Amino acid sequence: MAQQIKKVGVVGAGLMGHGITQVTAQSGYEVVVREVDEATLQQGLGKIEKQLARAVEKGKSTQEDADGVRARIHGTIDYGELAGCDLVIEAITEDLELKLAMWKEVDARAKDGAVFATNTSSLPVVDQAAVTKRPESFVGLHYFNPAQVMKLVEVVRCVTSSEDAFQTALQFAQSQGKLAIPTRDRAGFIVNRLLVPYMLDAIRALEEGVGSAQEIDEAMKAGAAHPMGPLTLADFVGLDTLGSICDVMFDEFRERRFARPPGLRKMLAAGWYGRKSGIGFYDYSGETPLENPGI
Ligand code: CAA
Repeated sequence: MAQQIKKVGVVGAGLMGHGITQVTAQSGYEVVVREVDEATLQQGLGKIEKQLARAVEKGKSTQEDADGVRARIHGTIDYGELAGCDLVIEAITEDLELKLAMWKEVDARAKDGAVFATNTSSLPVVDQAAVTKRPESFVGLHYFNPAQVMKLVEVVRCVTSSEDAFQTALQFAQSQGKLAIPTRDRAGFIVNRLLVPYMLDAIRALEEGVGSAQEIDEAMKAGAAHPMGPLTLADFVGLDTLGSICDVMFDEFRERRFARPPGLRKMLAAGWYGRKSGIGFYDYSGETPLENPGI
């Protein structure tokens, strides 16, 4: 039987965490969002406030509704404030050691019966479940960027997940108006298993001179009706995140299609992480993105 969720904790207010926080508060839940320091927290909250203000400007929301959403979000740098949450969603860096350390902090403070969910894109859910004292209450809830807009949430059942925890997570995602698709605990789940090799192949096509970054992107937009071309999408996901995901998938499956292309390795060495760092396959410093001349 699914549990009743009223208060939700989100750990991390970055690219995914701030979006999950916003969409959760918009669905009527109280949200406690935790970050490592005040400056990073304010950055995440600032992004949410900007989105809410934009929705009011566009006439998609009233000021009263936007104020209500903001009032339901409480930011903190203290793990202790997650104590009253019925569900805690992890959305920190895609690094297993960091996630395990984080869960130990949360597990020590969360109330009995709380459900834990990881937003990992690729790491095995069970590895995180096993570090807690409640592996049966652990599932995956994988959102897509931007979480406020993308319809899908993959709901991941790992070998230790109870039926109650799984149903709670499934119904929670549905209550946010998302399409919740159940999937097994296999690296990349459904979407990244297909999407990651596609983005890596686009990088290989660029390396082989099949087309320029812009030509590859425009071709996929016009020829396959994708909203973004694969290299723009890679910049949007974050090249560091893409690198971490493909490493995990390569370790798991040992298949060339998941291997990091040499070009990606060099870009990461240069600190080119995509849109979040202002430069990746494109340079985002001007009004419109321009191809990165260093590629
Ligand atoms: N945060 C919040 N809202 C956003 C947003 C953001 N970052 N970006 C766009 N939006 C909203 C806009 O406000 C707008 O809302 P309204 O319709 O209410 O006005 C709506 O989305 C459409 O935005 P735009 O008109 O500005 O631009 P667009 O039509 O080009 O859409 C997009 C932008 C939704 C991002 C679209 O380009 C798209 O769908 N791109 C593909 C995204 C994708 O594939 N994401 C998955 C990445 S993989 C992943 O996340 C998984 C992983 O593990 C790596």
